[in-house]
Amino acid sequence: MAKGAEKTGGIARTDATGRVEMIPELLAWSSSLPHDRTFVREDILGSAAHVTMLRKVGLLEAGDAQKLRASLLAMYDAAAAGTLVLEDGEEDVHMAIEGLLTRDLGDIGKRLHTARSRNDQVALDLRLHVRDQAARTLADVATLATELADRASREKDVVLPAYTHRQRAQPVSAAFLICAWSMQLLRAADVVAQAVTRANESPLGSGACSGTSLPIDRSVVAHLLSFSAVTANALDTIGDRDFVLDWTWAGARVLLALSRLSTDVIDFTTSEFGYLRIGDAVAAGSSMMPQKKNPDIFELVRAKASRGVGNVMSMLTLVRGLPTGYNRDFQDDRQAVLDTGPLVRGATGAVRAAIAHLTFDRERCLASVSDGSTQATDIAEALVRKGMPFREAYKATGQLVHLARERNVDLASIGLEAAKSINSAFDEAVLAVIDPRIAVAAKKSAGGTAPERVEEQIAWVRAAATELGYKASSVPTLDDLRRAVEAEPI
Ligand code: ARG
Repeated sequence: MAKGAEKTGGIARTDATGRVEMIPELLAWSSSLPHDRTFVREDILGSAAHVTMLRKVGLLEAGDAQKLRASLLAMYDAAAAGTLVLEDGEEDVHMAIEGLLTRDLGDIGKRLHTARSRNDQVALDLRLHVRDQAARTLADVATLATELADRASREKDVVLPAYTHRQRAQPVSAAFLICAWSMQLLRAADVVAQAVTRANESPLGSGACSGTSLPIDRSVVAHLLSFSAVTANALDTIGDRDFVLDWTWAGARVLLALSRLSTDVIDFTTSEFGYLRIGDAVAAGSSMMPQKKNPDIFELVRAKASRGVGNVMSMLTLVRGLPTGYNRDFQDDRQAVLDTGPLVRGATGAVRAAIAHLTFDRERCLASVSDGSTQATDIAEALVRKGMPFREAYKATGQLVHLARERNVDLASIGLEAAKSINSAFDEAVLAVIDPRIAVAAKKSAGGTAPERVEEQIAWVRAAATELGYKASSVPTLDDLRRAVEAEPI
């Protein structure tokens, strides 16, 4: 096609690029538009902020700037309402929006791309997207953690075994177990908060790779879009997808926490464990076996976690080995980055909804620690309190466990006489700790199972969740940004 191609697909072509358009099949195959549609609002906001900046530094006339911004904001509203039509046949969302603008405003539209490249534009869109999704994830995790804290408060009296090597180890309260789940989740949320911080610098104004000779002010866009700073080096900026990597990693961390919790739930709802009962509203059935009540939701959470890990891997392998600067390879970040938000937030919501329909079987839980074997360490520690060296106490208790096994009785019913036959240090007070509730209450060390320690843990979870909620709400929504851009006088 000769110069000045009218079709919007020709925007990024000059005589130097070539006189023919790309073969339609290849254009379609290489276009990122199908994925980019997800962040069309981010793209439009970036352009509206850019126009505002161009006006402020005098690179646009007031009238042109106002028309451009109004047209862009109308497109934003149409995109928000789901009525904006971006036709196929464009290389990406940036060309599609510029094409629409030029169709709407004619020559004025041709001024939009001043001092900008698609390389810094796509980086901007992705940063806005990641920041938004990560902030929403923080809010979701905060809600889940608060609900877990509430639940822990209601389950303080349930005693069940904690496991090491998936063997019954020591008695704990269900509240303590729920706090353990929460801690892992909150650590993951910390990484999500970090992903917000890492995404929170404005790349716009980096141009293709080295900045621009035009007198732009990058801080205007950064300020309008609530970024905390502008990025420091243009070449690094347009070849940087570390913030996407951080986001996929953060998302995977949340999914890992949910996945491990899910494995506990899946195990504990089996008839072998039987500690949890699953409510009808969240259980799935079998199409053939009439008796089955399956924890499908939790199995699916585990599967989503695998996909989250896959997203981290695809980002690592995408970026590894690329030369400094922009490479079109980056465009293939789209699946991983766009998948992460819905994946993590979907799983968080599913766990929230499903966990409310799980009930602890108190009797079954208690029965599983009532034979006394999980309290063997407590017995040894009671002997230590009487002055015996730990290794001796450990050996003596081991002999007692052995004797109980030989006599085919529970440790809980071995009796003082038998105990004394092993070591005269055994007495009523020592054997009293076989009661699982006493054993749980006795572990007053920081982070232990004693009720007062668990209260501290619940309070900690609650406070951390509140803090996360604040962090989440400090990130403006896209609609907030739209209002800020529109309110800026030009
Ligand atoms: N569609 C591209 C992407 O997603 C936009 C940047 C294109 N830049 C270029 N120089 N071709 O990465």
